[in-house]
Amino acid sequence: MPPDEGLTASDWPPSRPVMGYNTWYQFRTGITEAVVIRQAELLVSSGLAAAGYRCVNLDDGWMAAERAPSGELAGDPGKFPRGMAWLAGQVHALGLRFGLYTAIGTRTCQNLPASWDHYDQDAATFASWGVDFVKVDDCGGLPPGTTAAALTGHFREFGACLRRHNPDVVYSQELPIHQIGKPSFLPAVRASARFAHMWRVAHDENPLDSASPMILSHLSAVLPLHSFAGPGHWNDLDMVAPKYPASGWTLADLRSQLSVWAMEASPLLISADIGALPPDALAALKNPHMIALDQSGAQCSTMTASGPVTALMKPDPAGGTAVLFVNLGTGTGTGRFPLAQLGITSARASGRDVWTGATAAFDGEASVTLEEGQTALVQVTEA
Ligand code: GLA
Repeated sequence: MPPDEGLTASDWPPSRPVMGYNTWYQFRTGITEAVVIRQAELLVSSGLAAAGYRCVNLDDGWMAAERAPSGELAGDPGKFPRGMAWLAGQVHALGLRFGLYTAIGTRTCQNLPASWDHYDQDAATFASWGVDFVKVDDCGGLPPGTTAAALTGHFREFGACLRRHNPDVVYSQELPIHQIGKPSFLPAVRASARFAHMWRVAHDENPLDSASPMILSHLSAVLPLHSFAGPGHWNDLDMVAPKYPASGWTLADLRSQLSVWAMEASPLLISADIGALPPDALAALKNPHMIALDQSGAQCSTMTASGPVTALMKPDPAGGTAVLFVNLGTGTGTGRFPLAQLGITSARASGRDVWTGATAAFDGEASVTLEEGQTALVQVTEA
């Protein structure tokens, strides 16, 4: 089979939020050739690739402790004895895209060599290896006193180098993360939207934490950023299904996360052992309606509350309005939303639960009762 069979130029770089896989939460720095190939094969055999998850990204931990004598970055020879170009070829042969990680300073977050002073060289190396996606972290090893503006310049420059060597590369970066909560956050996001395909706007997840506070905190944090999202550039909430199911998350937690990510049009990068995903989790990740909502290209911009229940809305590509109801209060609570508030002009409407397919009839208003932290993703259409 020729190495690139299954890959078509027209699907890359994607104009919609990237879907794929990332090694980080499941394997940390324990990634090897065998681990990556197994996950790539599972992506195909599980049907996830056919559902759209097509980019296999190696996160931190792939590189050797030192650069090669030529100054080039090199894969860890113990973990990747046949090298990164060979691995990229294996992933491409499965019809998938291949991604690598580096950092903007001298060291990665795991204290391995990163790209400072080597932006052009590393961009050339990645292009020569057939790397389709590059994630650039905002980690240690920057000169003391580096300002947010200077850092923005470094990220812009690295992006230009990456594109010069591979015009089709997807550039994912973390510039805004260290600016969260500071006045420099919005400028970092604004700049990122001009030169990157995706930029992290949320801190790392802790997969072992209770899921709902982490997931739901993104609702108000990311909503004001909707104007920066559009074809080819997306606010990135971080990976999905982090270490699921070993994380202890329930299926409801996973569905809540996917609901929020889909409403926010975030990239969907699975970070679990695909072989350990139970059928119901696989079905959630493959849910075509959730994927269509994520890939519709619209990030939700409207939010309204009734009692403890908040409702986020955006047009549903399958018709009507997609509404994410969330109980952000304490204890079980009910929200009552006039249909007009949900963008519905008729007196009656019907609701269809995106996860269960259950339907409900709404007369004048949608009344929704949820337990604390519970969410419901509903397509509301005129009846
Ligand atoms: C940072 C990033 C994570 C991951 C790790 C790797 O914490 O935010 O997504 O890449 O570094 O060390």
